[in-house]
Amino acid sequence: MKEINVLVTGAAGQIGYALLTRLASGETFGKDTKVNLNLVEVPQVVSKLEGSRMELEDCGFNALGEIKSFSDINEASGDIDWALLVGSIPRGITINGKKIEERADLLKINGGIFTEQGKALGENAKQNAKILVVGNPANTNALIGCTHGNNSTQTWMAMTALDSNRAKAQVANKCNVAISDIKKMTIWGNHSPTMYPDLDNAEINNESVSTLINDKSWIEKDFLQIVQQRGKAIIDARGASSATSAANAAIDTVKATLSETAEDDWFSAAVMSDGSYNVPEGIIFGFPLRTNSSGEISIVQNLPISEYAQDKINLTTQELLDEKKDISDLL
Ligand code: NAD
Ligand code: LMR
Repeated sequence: MKEINVLVTGAAGQIGYALLTRLASGETFGKDTKVNLNLVEVPQVVSKLEGSRMELEDCGFNALGEIKSFSDINEASGDIDWALLVGSIPRGITINGKKIEERADLLKINGGIFTEQGKALGENAKQNAKILVVGNPANTNALIGCTHGNNSTQTWMAMTALDSNRAKAQVANKCNVAISDIKKMTIWGNHSPTMYPDLDNAEINNESVSTLINDKSWIEKDFLQIVQQRGKAIIDARGASSATSAANAAIDTVKATLSETAEDDWFSAAVMSDGSYNVPEGIIFGFPLRTNSSGEISIVQNLPISEYAQDKINLTTQELLDEKKDISDLL
């Protein structure tokens, strides 16, 4: 049986709880791959991971390998193939009497976590390790981690698959089609209210979704607002930020990198900009991505971008540049 070493930070949190079973069940890496889990938590919480370990054992998954708990990221990151960096504080909670309203408000609180984690993964994880940042503000946290990782053969991503799944769900309802009929969904930019879900280049049966819907007002007002604000809507309704759907999107992202992307599709995640689509280098930006047969991830090129879309892309670019400026002391 093959083996894969997976690190999860924030493993005792709500996303962590929803994530672990799906990593260990064989669903993600395949039934023929043993999954060793390195679970990381802050020292005050690390003992709770014993409960998670017992539960995973009691699931009786054939694919489950060794489970280890850590509070030291340096010890946890040795030989890691895949790191899911979830550990961080969600918005919606109150700190020092101030409610955290926007993901960007978490920059100063969570950003520091990623300096040490980036360095540890850069030094100790496998050279071809893939790292997905889920903790918010995900793009800029990934930028901090990637900078401190300083390892050009590892791949850092920030999660926008949840936004892509949200966009597909809205389109499926509107067009009365199955989710699987919707291909090529792109989330441009930041995992924040400036993200731009692109229906011009998304397709149903090889036809542009925006052409098919043919309802500018729905696309530019209802759809955009729902997708951009879905995280907040969930926090308002549930009193806690999305967890099952966030864990599901992390699994979707991992799966999207494990095999070659179908000809008629791509997937969404934020990666280091290489200047594609005139997005400045040096920010972690949501792009349309494809995985090739060697497991390399690249940005889909030459998509048409309307003037309206370009304005939206400029807005989310500027927000990421501003976030980068705000945490320049952490880079
Ligand atoms: P949670 O509070 O339930 O769990 C977070 C866990 O992280 C806690 O158990 C905490 O002890 C742990 N933690 C904190 N600092 C850590 C560190 N330095 N090392 C290891 N563990 C640490 O929160 P949650 O609901 O699981 O959300 C986690 C993060 O994911 C939040 O920042 C949230 O905003 C974000 N999120 C992102 C997306 C996305 O689409 N990118 C979606 C949902 C949530
Ligand atoms: C989400 O989109 O659900 C998460 O990023 C949580 C949040 O703060 O919105």
